[in-house]
Amino acid sequence: MKGVILAGGSGSRLDPFTKVMNKHLLPVGRYPMIYWTIKKLSNAGIKDIMIVTNKEHIGSFKSMLGNGDILNVSLQYEVQKKDGGGAADALLCSCRFVQNEKFVVLLGDNIFEDSLVSFVNEYKKQSSGARVFLKKVKDPERYGVAVLNQDGSQIESIHEKPQCALSPYCVTGIYMYDSLVFNYIKKLRPSDRNELEITDVNKMYLANSRLYFDILEGWWVDAGTHESLFQANQLVNGMTDWEADL
Ligand code: DAU
Repeated sequence: MKGVILAGGSGSRLDPFTKVMNKHLLPVGRYPMIYWTIKKLSNAGIKDIMIVTNKEHIGSFKSMLGNGDILNVSLQYEVQKKDGGGAADALLCSCRFVQNEKFVVLLGDNIFEDSLVSFVNEYKKQSSGARVFLKKVKDPERYGVAVLNQDGSQIESIHEKPQCALSPYCVTGIYMYDSLVFNYIKKLRPSDRNELEITDVNKMYLANSRLYFDILEGWWVDAGTHESLFQANQLVNGMTDWEADL
């Protein structure tokens, strides 16, 4: 199975650092943020990885990570042509790399504790469709959220940054897709923030009864703001054993 890490966007919530630097190269613990998602994929046996980022910063990623040998993975890079066009637009850029296989997508600013090993193994058994990963959070309005049915066995609806907390379950930036995802993205229209939203992709899977989910047990952080970046730094600093094998 292949992996795709989305590492474009403006990172404006981390201004002024992101005036000159890509968010995913900022420090989280002793490593640049992007190392953590690469390591999560690698630990789950996913060594064939594409990083999608913007034209301005692709050179910095290549200088830092090269062909991936330093992290024992094989890296390829793709430029997101429409800078800031949204996570789904960035994902579309990986179409040729992925081809017709099922694959894993990580938003490069998501730092989390759970191992992907069992999730990847489960998804390998799933014949088709998508899988998303939920986490109970205190501030669901910041994220995409999933409303579950009464017995918690199915997702009923998904909403991107709802004005009020419709559900405590955030849809994290860990996704597993089959190649249908690219057909869905091609049908998307830009959202109010003028982006192709990954949430709209997940809604299409849901509408076609092809969306499955798991709930993360460990901590999870979207390190896209000053506060959450600080929190991510504190959390990874407590993971010395894991960090040691980076
Ligand atoms: O972290 C989880 C949340 O991430 C989800 O709950 C939301 O549904 C999802 O939309 C996303 O929300 P954010 O507002 O935090 O998205 P952000 O703009 O920070 O982009 C997330 C990642 O996608 C980021 O690591 C970089 C990448 N990205 C983003 C944009 C806008 C790109 O590669 N290209 C882009 O054009």
